[in-house]
Amino acid sequence: MTIPENVRLNPAATALSAEMQAWRHHLHAHPETAFEEHETSAFVAEKLRAFGYEVATGLGRTGVVGTLKGRHGGQRAIALRADMDALHIHEANDFAHRSVNPGRMHACGHDGHTAMLLGAAKLLADDPDFHGTLRVIFQPAEENEGGAREMIEDGLFDRFPVDAVYGMHNWPGLPLGRIALRPGPMMGSYDIFEIVVHGKGSHAAMPHMGNDAITAAGHLLTTLQTIPGRSLHPLDSAVVSATQIFGGDTWNVIPPSVTIRGTVRAFKDSVQDTVEARMRVLAEHTAASFGCTAEVRYERRYPATVNSADETALCAEVAARLVGADNVDHDPMPSMGAEDFAFMLKQRPGCYVWLGNGPAEGGCLLHNPGYDFNDANLAIGASYWVSLTKTLLSAEAEVAA
Ligand code: NI
Repeated sequence: MTIPENVRLNPAATALSAEMQAWRHHLHAHPETAFEEHETSAFVAEKLRAFGYEVATGLGRTGVVGTLKGRHGGQRAIALRADMDALHIHEANDFAHRSVNPGRMHACGHDGHTAMLLGAAKLLADDPDFHGTLRVIFQPAEENEGGAREMIEDGLFDRFPVDAVYGMHNWPGLPLGRIALRPGPMMGSYDIFEIVVHGKGSHAAMPHMGNDAITAAGHLLTTLQTIPGRSLHPLDSAVVSATQIFGGDTWNVIPPSVTIRGTVRAFKDSVQDTVEARMRVLAEHTAASFGCTAEVRYERRYPATVNSADETALCAEVAARLVGADNVDHDPMPSMGAEDFAFMLKQRPGCYVWLGNGPAEGGCLLHNPGYDFNDANLAIGASYWVSLTKTLLSAEAEVAA
């Protein structure tokens, strides 16, 4: 575990490194997936209580919120958020802390995110030299199932009011000791769609007797790609990806229907609206041109993750103090991957950053069975959280509020 020279760690975080690593390895060995994070949630709640936090459990089923008041009183409140869930992946690693739950794995580093926020929570409880209220949010089901949305629907920000909310994700491919962030979109929205093209089945030798759903679906597949190119402003972005197509059972029968499924990614609500509207028009009319009909189901899963400008500027200052100004990337290319933290940023201003996890080699990409969180980041992430909290809840910030 080598910390790059440019990083100026909080000495207390350095001292806590071995303990955070033990927590992280325990969590890595015992991964739990969406809304089943019972042991993880209990582990987090027990630690927070021991540190002196007021703890609420069961938000969004398995979510945990810890609250700590600063030593100096104060009105402002902020939230730091970590995700706790693992993925349905069978781990390929053979190190000592590999998963003991077959088919489940911390392949996205949420074990690390949980351990470093717990570490920061401990350091801030040991020295609550801040004004106002700190809330630490440990959310379930970041992957696919919208755990953040469920916590919000369960009254997260009504029961635990905050002025702003902050998130972080490790980022393989970004060197260790670097932090990337930008105002505006960081990650894409995530919508799913299903189009069923209904035709009239026929003998493969007599296509004129039917309405060929396969040929209609083929045209529709290529037509869908005109949405980003022809229907959006040239500087707006979207990805329309068909990822499944089903139809037919044998060689000599043209089936009565074909199903196309896929995902849409974008950075703006208005782009999602355009893509959905165009998809409906293209599906209907392309199908009609072959004598078929189309049924479109379009479902919005996650909005885009969009950082607010003022909060991002503050995070950039904190990041520069930690890793040096040269190691803060202020304009990374946003990712079209989705992030559930987006729901929290829809409710409150805030900023989500990427923390360099080092080379994406040896299978060390997110969601890869060979992935592992970089333990050197535990002290870096915890130092960032502590410094961010003390900056946001400083005496000056309290006066300004
Ligand atoms: Ni993740």
